[in-house]
Amino acid sequence: MAAPSQDLMSTMVSLCKRRGFIFQSSEIYGGLNSCWDYGPLGVELKRNVKEAWWRAMVHSRRDIVGLDASILMHPKVWEASGHLAGFTDPLVDCKECKERFRADHLENLKKCPKCGGQLTEVRKFNLMFKTFMGPVEDASATVFMRPETAQGIFVNFLNVQQAARLKPPFGIAQIGKSFRNEITPGNFTYRTREFEQMEMEFFVPPAEDLRWYNYWKKMRFDWYVSCGIKPENLRLRDHSKDELAHYAKACCDVEYNFPFGWSELEGIANRTDFDLRQHTEHSGKSLAFFDEESKQHYFPYVIEPAAGADRAALAFLVDSYAVEGEGKDARTVLRLHPAIAPIKVAVLPLVKRDGMPEKAEKIFADLLKNSVRSFYDHTSSIGRRYARQDEAGTPYCVTIDSQTLADDTVTIRERDSRAQYRVASGAVVAAVTEKLKAAIQ
Ligand code: GAP
Repeated sequence: MAAPSQDLMSTMVSLCKRRGFIFQSSEIYGGLNSCWDYGPLGVELKRNVKEAWWRAMVHSRRDIVGLDASILMHPKVWEASGHLAGFTDPLVDCKECKERFRADHLENLKKCPKCGGQLTEVRKFNLMFKTFMGPVEDASATVFMRPETAQGIFVNFLNVQQAARLKPPFGIAQIGKSFRNEITPGNFTYRTREFEQMEMEFFVPPAEDLRWYNYWKKMRFDWYVSCGIKPENLRLRDHSKDELAHYAKACCDVEYNFPFGWSELEGIANRTDFDLRQHTEHSGKSLAFFDEESKQHYFPYVIEPAAGADRAALAFLVDSYAVEGEGKDARTVLRLHPAIAPIKVAVLPLVKRDGMPEKAEKIFADLLKNSVRSFYDHTSSIGRRYARQDEAGTPYCVTIDSQTLADDTVTIRERDSRAQYRVASGAVVAAVTEKLKAAIQ
């Protein structure tokens, strides 16, 4: 049975809190709007999302390298990138109830959709968070929290290209926090003011831009499918001309069918040579690439797949959620891909006596020694323990029972099919790591 969609988001929010995926930030103080903390299961899930992205975008490729740039950058970066002048959303306030809205989300700009009161004129609101560097809080000390990780890559283009001796086409990938003072954050972790991006800037000879743009559209769509998202819940949507950002020649979103409607997971943009040229002009240092073969300098074009780690994590959670069976067979399960699942194996001694805990401890220790993220649980009935692991998305459970003591075999139970089979206790690590390897590659 598929999960009913109308309350799916509130179900997800409470499951995430109960099971330790995601908590509200500063909850004991009443929470801080749009800020979320990842708990023990959530932090593993999000790390797995980022690792799967890094594996696909960096480690499995010969043409992409990584970077970890600082969050605070020279203020001129944001002048050159266009963020200072143009990274704004249109804002209106209700004169009666004081609620704020994004003007481009309203049909009627005269009347407050909440109380019917009069709205202010539309004004531009810059989304960058400002702070001060050093002890003096004046204009000359103003710095911004980066609103995208991309600019750290552009300003380092030649450093990376020369140090790693690369020639277009090649890419620079980065994962890190970004900050936007969104007017209307919401839908749980979908739109927040602090979030993590996974961005890759792919530098290509200008004549090859279309080929690489189409290539990255397909690669990025396929990545979500390879990590377990149902293809029918994904689509590619090309931006119309009037939707394009100031730097883009073309853009396409990978969208997911969230319970609140089709929404952007990731954008793939053709940024042309806009950023390299802007930084060259504003810094006075040329970021043109010197092609040894043609002995010419040129500005490569940039194809940018830009994803959000939090949005991807939310999509994986929502997509994997299912309520199955009837009556006492009913269960809630997160059918997470093994690469994304926070815990890979749960080790469950049937009872806390007859030598079962000792056997289970040994298997648990072996799994940990082999870096298989595992969990040991000896509390409550075996049915309840399976149910808890299903709800956490754990793909495999290993149960140590009375037969183990007779023939040294244990039961492996698979989350999705609920199939159970026995293997020798000494073969658990090999059996599980084989399965994980097959699923993750
Ligand atoms: N460098 C291009 C860029 O930043 P973007 O479409 O504004 O493009 C890329 O952002 C991705 O970052 C989005 O597709 C989304 O996954 C994530 N993202 C952007 N704003 C976000 C927010 N307020 N909360 C959570 N994720 C966000």
